[in-house]
Amino acid sequence: MSLLQVKRITKHFGGLTALSDLSFSVEEGKVFGLIGPNGAGKTTLLNIISGFLKATSGNIILQGKSITGCHPHILASRGISRTFQNGQIFGNMTALENVMVGCHIRFGGEFLNAALQTGWSRRQEGEIRQVSVEILASMGLQAWAQEPADSLPFGLQRLLEIARGVATKPRLLLLDEPAAGLNREEKERLTLEIARLRCQGITIILVEHDMDVVMSICDRLVVLNYGQKIAEGTPEEVQKDREVVAAYLGDEDGFHA
Ligand SMILES: Nc1ncnc2c1ncn2[C@@H]1O[C@H](COP(=O)(O)OP(=O)(O)OP(=O)(O)O)[C@@H](O)[C@H]1O
Ligand SMILES: [Mg+2]
Repeated sequence: MSLLQVKRITKHFGGLTALSDLSFSVEEGKVFGLIGPNGAGKTTLLNIISGFLKATSGNIILQGKSITGCHPHILASRGISRTFQNGQIFGNMTALENVMVGCHIRFGGEFLNAALQTGWSRRQEGEIRQVSVEILASMGLQAWAQEPADSLPFGLQRLLEIARGVATKPRLLLLDEPAAGLNREEKERLTLEIARLRCQGITIILVEHDMDVVMSICDRLVVLNYGQKIAEGTPEEVQKDREVVAAYLGDEDGFHA
């Protein structure tokens, strides 16, 4: 059974159709790429899957059950986590604290209430800290644990945001252009991290313009153009698709965003 099914999703913003009757399925344990030119509707779809936006029509099914219209915090507790296109870390909190925030969801709302109202008990805080340290270390960020998040190099800030997403213990992780602004070395590191998360059984939907990253890591791709699916298949299949090449004004270097 697919982990996630997108079924006939349409999204209108006033007169603009951002997504049009879009359907596809994401298999568990895969990296699923979502690509397309600027304005194709990629972020809109991630917003709908993660509950930040409501679709005009259509359904989202997670593990066979409809999650259409559920709130983001419910979806987070059901195992959907995300990062944001512009990057969203808490700059004046330490790297470790950023990951600890992600852990709240994993430890449940009751824990969060207790933390807010009565302060963290030593045991709870210790447990969360330990898990967060391990996640930071697994992503090679342990040296930065006590540093303010905004003092990390840009590429590591993007990894930190992913680490915070991982701290929620997701089944499905939605990454919105994680390679944007990264240099080549940082992109290679990011690609390795995504592969490692897949090995841990996390299913990933990757929105990305960087074709080296997309082609090297994705198991399957959907290509959007003006909110419509114009191609779907393996990276090799999609790369050969003439409509895709046309939509991107592609040349031998790949695609232009
Ligand atoms: N909140 C909104 N209100 C009105 N229009 C919106 C809103 N969000 C997105 N749009 C429009 O919907 C379309 C799809 O936007 P979206 O951000 O999903 O594209 P995208 O594929 O993520 O593009 P990019 O690659 O530039 O990030 C665009 O025409 C955009 O202007
Ligand atoms: Mg976008």
